[in-house]
Amino acid sequence: MKPLTREQEEKIEYLISEMTIEEKIGQLNQISPSIVGGFDVSFEELIEMMTDGRISKEEFGRIMAGAKQDYHDDVNRAGGLSSVLISDPETCNTLQKIAVEETRLGIPLIFGFDVIHGFRTVVPIAPAEAGTFEPELMEKSARIAAKESRASGIAWHFSPMVDISRDARWGRVSEGPGEDPYLASVFARAKVRGQQNDDSDPSTYVASCLKHYVAYGACESGRDYNTVSMARSMLYNTYLPPFKAGVEEGAATVMASFNDLNGVPCTMNPFTLRTVLKDAYGFEGFVVSDANAIKECIIHGYAEDEQDAAAKALAAGMDMDMGTWIYSKELKQAAKDGRVQMKDLDEAVRRVLGIKMRLGLFDRPYVSEEEMHRYDTLPEEHLAHALETAEKSIVLLKNDGDLLPLDKKKKISLIGALADMKEEVLGSWAMSGRVQDCVTIREGLEQASACMEYFPCCAPDGEINEEEVRNAIAAGEVLVAVVGEYASMSGEASSRADITLPGKQQELLKMLLASGKPVIALLMNGRPLALAWEAEHLPAIVECWHLGIQMGSAVARVLFGDVNPGGKLTCTFPAMTGQCPMYYNAPKTGRPGSKSKFTSRYLDAPVEPLYPFGFGLSYTSFAWSDMKVKENTDTLEVTVTLENTGDRRGSEVVQLYMHDVAASLVRPKKELKGFCKVTLDSGEKRDVTVSLEKAQMGFYDDDMNYRLEDGKFILYVGGNSRDCLSETVDVKF
Ligand code: GLC
Repeated sequence: MKPLTREQEEKIEYLISEMTIEEKIGQLNQISPSIVGGFDVSFEELIEMMTDGRISKEEFGRIMAGAKQDYHDDVNRAGGLSSVLISDPETCNTLQKIAVEETRLGIPLIFGFDVIHGFRTVVPIAPAEAGTFEPELMEKSARIAAKESRASGIAWHFSPMVDISRDARWGRVSEGPGEDPYLASVFARAKVRGQQNDDSDPSTYVASCLKHYVAYGACESGRDYNTVSMARSMLYNTYLPPFKAGVEEGAATVMASFNDLNGVPCTMNPFTLRTVLKDAYGFEGFVVSDANAIKECIIHGYAEDEQDAAAKALAAGMDMDMGTWIYSKELKQAAKDGRVQMKDLDEAVRRVLGIKMRLGLFDRPYVSEEEMHRYDTLPEEHLAHALETAEKSIVLLKNDGDLLPLDKKKKISLIGALADMKEEVLGSWAMSGRVQDCVTIREGLEQASACMEYFPCCAPDGEINEEEVRNAIAAGEVLVAVVGEYASMSGEASSRADITLPGKQQELLKMLLASGKPVIALLMNGRPLALAWEAEHLPAIVECWHLGIQMGSAVARVLFGDVNPGGKLTCTFPAMTGQCPMYYNAPKTGRPGSKSKFTSRYLDAPVEPLYPFGFGLSYTSFAWSDMKVKENTDTLEVTVTLENTGDRRGSEVVQLYMHDVAASLVRPKKELKGFCKVTLDSGEKRDVTVSLEKAQMGFYDDDMNYRLEDGKFILYVGGNSRDCLSETVDVKF
């Protein structure tokens, strides 16, 4: 998105000077058509009704279409509304026509939608895609989603979700890039670039929306929407970095989070919205609340009533109200009562109009007939990208005796209901994906001409069909079990207090294992799972996440060795739920957990996670040696020799971590500070260098002062956050 021209700035000021207070407030009002249509369910509930089959997609479309007639009144009453959550181009054009041709100033609407990991070309969920450690891939996914959605009239994505999540009980782990601030910042930048930057065809970019601002992932007990408390230094060093990175990359909008932070709801928190985001970070776009969140500040116990909520939110820097109509109903009176300053109102309108202008909506408010059908058939390039990203997101967790890859001649019994459920491969937040575009694991193996028979046997919430299990055991030489979670078992409002395999799936695995035949578990899940038993007893485990439309093809290519898996974990996998929250970049404490009693440990659980951040095996093997550190004026260059000691080409992610040995605030035992992904042929040896900017070696204190403190640092390099070579250096800044 290009910056505003002088002429555009002048047009915005002219509009503001011309607008009535009702028209100004209208620009700050985002609504969902279902609310507009007078339906007694919210847009989210409609989505849920469609997802769980209470209404069909056709009925959903009719309900949306039915909103048009009612919308007329709302547009005229509110003097122009800012955006609508809808994704079909005809409705966008119809609603846009009302705004542009039938309101006094003709200010276009901006249509926003949850395009989280793809629009039509649905790619792996974020914790998986971030595990590719390939920013170009992450960027291209966002680029493709921007082009596909803009052709449907969607010019604003409610993504990237960049909440750091350290507690796998929280369902929304499935939407973000994991537990590490550095990797999450790389992800945030890549997504914003993909969404907003395109010089070739400016009509195909969309506005980003960094969400959920801020520290939503730190909700107490991993329970969604729950309270959040933390030191400001933790906020600055762990939860804010991906937002800061996204703002630096030019993100157009930010969405505030539902949670309170240290007692003040983020929806109307002047410290996070003004002091940090708009003042310290210089954010020039607009902030939107999350759905219904302004009204919920009354329930939080922070606003007395709707007018109080409206006044506090705008004063705190909340520019747009999603879904409550409170701004529309209360701001005018609040202004009359002097509870709202016109300069704040004008500032919010200026920010909204600026993004609409930069998106080209004033010049091109409608979707053309050609655009509407441009992606009826997905281009080969998009499908190829979805396949490549899915393949690279797969993480090999265990492979005893090199059981994998499988020989295609081996008779496979493919087991598990999830292996044959098209809609499940999409994962959470993929409402614009089309089921007919999805390739299941069963279909992927069939397309790969595997020698295979399929037996559902058990679903994540179902009973075990014992006859099918017996038949599966009898039929196959190898038992490949697809187990995990439905897409609906993670995502919003989907926290789980027990993150073992849901239902009877572990029991199914035990039955299969009892056959004495080799059992391979393919995991389809949206969050880390507690797999202590599985890791101890199964010879092979592959983390396949929810990989999007090309899931089945990608899994088949990895299973048979056409692709050597190279994905890494972006979230720690605990051995037991009770270890949550669990993350690699934690402080040491004065008594680091160990086998001895008086240390930070449990009586009934291991100290270590099952699989650490950054972990992922390969069908080949790598040897690490000769770590060297070269100090330059502004950088430390860390070089290591990596050798592919196995019999096939493979990729490895050289990860660079740092520990500040003694600092004025205790620092994490390791912090990711850089990485480099390399692909080596069998037998190939290469020196790989990762450069660390000295300026990256500091941390923020509670007053947001960035401290660079001379002293001893341990640098680590390895293929995950646990197994590393290390060197100690003394650094003077
Ligand atoms: C939801 C989510 C948010 C989403 C919004 C609009 O409640 O919290 O991530 O963008 O509403 O659907």
